Amino acid sequence: MITIRSEHARDIKAREALLDDVFGIERHAKTCERLREGRLPVRGLSFISEDDGCLIGTVRLWHVEAGTAGASLILGPLAVAKANRSSGVGARLMRTALRRAAMLGHRSILLVGDVSYYERFGFSANLTQRLCLPGPVDPKRFLGLELETGALFDAIGQVFATGVLNSNHSDVVLHQSASHRSRLMNLAA
Ligand SMILES: CC(C)(COP(=O)(O)OP(=O)(O)OC[C@H]1O[C@@H](n2cnc3c(N)ncnc32)[C@H](O)[C@@H]1OP(=O)(O)O)[C@@H](O)C(=O)NCCC(=O)NCCS
Repeated sequence: MITIRSEHARDIKAREALLDDVFGIERHAKTCERLREGRLPVRGLSFISEDDGCLIGTVRLWHVEAGTAGASLILGPLAVAKANRSSGVGARLMRTALRRAAMLGHRSILLVGDVSYYERFGFSANLTQRLCLPGPVDPKRFLGLELETGALFDAIGQVFATGVLNSNHSDVVLHQSASHRSRLMNLAA
């Protein structure tokens, strides 16, 4: 049976293996990673999906400041194991995360992804046109969602990370060798 639940520390290894499988190691060079690296995700906003105890999906949200809009969140990565796609796992992860973020009082969410997938959850590139991420990104893929009406109205300026620093360095990205990381930094986002 497929279930959605909050992520625990014991899920990190399986989650990272899933992300490597879905996105490849190049994932660490993506622009959004500049907003996540070395930070902790928002407390209470990391979810995984399991199929009979096997981790098959992940989504997390991260604290950012979004220019004049102020405090916001950035969502990602969202990933579902190849063998489990198109059965609603991605949508369940998204709806769980969006609902919980709204319950916790967050006002808006940003992400970089395909509008053809994310528009079903209300995301639009119209809300992010004058916001800048810390690296190159296709503007058509930089999307926003208002959990509170007007939260991204007229938003302009730089998006930067505000999440708590991850002092125990438990994430896999921090285990990479310096040469590996410098090669990845040169890849396009
Ligand atoms: C995107 C992803 C998370 C969706 O997970 P999922 O569990 O298959 O999603 P759902 O079951 O809720 O929805 C599946 C539907 O979305 C569609 N879909 C999947 N990716 C899509 C995309 N990039 N653009 C448009 N539609 C997409 C599927 O074709 C499917 O359509 P159907 O219902 O008509 O068959 C999954 O395909 C995935 O992990 N992809 C690779 C990683 C990725 O692109 N992540 C998002 C960007 S960070």
